[in-house]
Amino acid sequence: MQELREKKQRGERITALTAYDYPTARLLDEAGIDVILVGDSLGMVVLGYKDTTQVTLGEMLHHTRAVSRADTHALVVADLPIHTYDTPDQAVRSARELVEAGAEAVKLEGGISRVAQIKAIVDDGIPLMGHIGMLPQSVREEGGYKVKGRTAAEAVTLLEDAHAVEGAGAFAVVLEIVSSGAAREITAALSIPTLGIGSGNGCDGEILVTHDLIGLFPWFTPKFVKPEANVAAEMRAAFRAFIDRTRRTQKASQV
Ligand code: KIV
Repeated sequence: MQELREKKQRGERITALTAYDYPTARLLDEAGIDVILVGDSLGMVVLGYKDTTQVTLGEMLHHTRAVSRADTHALVVADLPIHTYDTPDQAVRSARELVEAGAEAVKLEGGISRVAQIKAIVDDGIPLMGHIGMLPQSVREEGGYKVKGRTAAEAVTLLEDAHAVEGAGAFAVVLEIVSSGAAREITAALSIPTLGIGSGNGCDGEILVTHDLIGLFPWFTPKFVKPEANVAAEMRAAFRAFIDRTRRTQKASQV
């Protein structure tokens, strides 16, 4: 966490991607990623839910254990799923479970409204990453994944949220789908690093859902993602090759 802060001070960009399993965590670590997030995006890209609002703590614990078995150099952060941090006491209990499962830090969504939970977790000795801007756990109330910080009033609210999260003790904060101007302003105002997702190039680092980056969830890719691979196409080709080869090959006659 200190290293991430030093990277911000040196102007070196921070890299973060999600993993939900052991091989992906190992591959990310071998590639030199700074932060691995066991995100509750798990719900969509692995478990087949419509959004993150159905993800349970049990599911997060299961996948956090798998990622932590990779024993990475990268910092492993795990998401607190919805309704596991409604009160400060519940937040601490849930965060402790994620740490017991192998997380080195936890992340929760919200700014000023979550200060009590953030302080309680940090006071318990658990490092916390904040998450402001578009909050996927509130997508149903919001009616979609909309850009935040386009109006002056929204930009001020976001800056207040960012200061609140930093003041409560977070070591970094994710800015999700925030207008690039507001993201730049928040990044300049905070001493903790900002990790942007769909928020322009002005943050201290970038975070993405790995499945989006590598083309492993071909049915939906957010507009702001430029995939670097088409793993789904590779998988389809390998599956077809296996099916064709097996159907073409004669069954060996029994002796
Ligand atoms: O759940 C997740 O993967 C996240 C990232 C998109 C930041 O919160």
